Amino acid sequence: MSITAITKGLATFVVPASWYNRSQGRTLSARYCYSVYLRHLVKLAEAGAGTDPGSVAEIGPGASIGTGLAALIAGAERYYGFDIKAYGSSPRSLAVFDELVALFAERAPIPGEDEIPRIKPTLDALDFPGHILSPARLERCLAETRLARLRRALTADGMAGPEPAVAYIAPWFDEALVRPASIDWIFSQAVMEHVDEIAGTYRACFAWLKPGAAMSHQIDFKSHGTSHAWNGHWAYSDLAWRAVRGARLYLISRAPHSIHRAAVKDAGFDLLTDLRVARNDGLPRERLARRFRALDDADLTTAGAFMIARKPE
Ligand SMILES: C[S@@+](CC[C@H](N)C(=O)[O-])C[C@H]1O[C@@H](n2cnc3c(N)ncnc32)[C@H](O)[C@@H]1O
Repeated sequence: MSITAITKGLATFVVPASWYNRSQGRTLSARYCYSVYLRHLVKLAEAGAGTDPGSVAEIGPGASIGTGLAALIAGAERYYGFDIKAYGSSPRSLAVFDELVALFAERAPIPGEDEIPRIKPTLDALDFPGHILSPARLERCLAETRLARLRRALTADGMAGPEPAVAYIAPWFDEALVRPASIDWIFSQAVMEHVDEIAGTYRACFAWLKPGAAMSHQIDFKSHGTSHAWNGHWAYSDLAWRAVRGARLYLISRAPHSIHRAAVKDAGFDLLTDLRVARNDGLPRERLARRFRALDDADLTTAGAFMIARKPE
């Protein structure tokens, strides 16, 4: 347990929320968004899932909707971003959009871990995936008129229309925000570990996806700065954890890998891919809080996972 983490958590009860609800992820960087999008795309192709979605939704885009913009540039016509809190502003997104267009136009290789530390999922090769984003597809997608239309959709006017190409909804909690069975791909990056309503979120994804369509999620099960050990968040009692969480809008749910697997399956999905990031250097079982001591060995050593799940036809 970390006294600093508890003190910081307790401080959130007395300092203004604008001081601590600031974790926005890394999506202000176009190269990060490009890397994340292409990593999911390559993995979707490997799993035999669709790689040319018309409508896309993202859970937790963070500082900008850049990863969704990469999906739009690469062929999607509709994007929904759902966050717990509104961060995105259109000038930031426009700058990221322009940088992304340049990256696709030059078929830039996928930025690696040397440039973007700890980025996941891991790939065998970082070449531009020309087998998925073929020259013909890119020519169609990067047509000037198409890009100008997408760029307009990012402005305040574009987003205010009745059926906007880009919808940013924060906070979101209502499954009814999206027409059932209307989305071709849902994804998240470094978000599902923060979500408190795990089962409800996967159920919403199931309702929104078309039959046969897939979702992909990169999930980080580490302690997110609440302890030195990567799995030290499981050492806090529930009471101590309430102090660590404090008044934060979100922190981490502490749910291990098996809870996500079970929730995905209970929502009705077929799990196509489940790539674990394994670590053996965490706190030993006997140092964890009682309710986490019962975790099985797989959960105890799973520091991250990339999951692809498909809604049955
Ligand atoms: C670590 S950031 C990751 C942001 C971005 N995906 C990235 O790759 O940088 C976590 C994001 O999850 C969002 N978040 C937390 N709980 C959420 C929820 N229940 N629903 C949607 N987004 C949530 C946060 O607001 C934040 O934008």
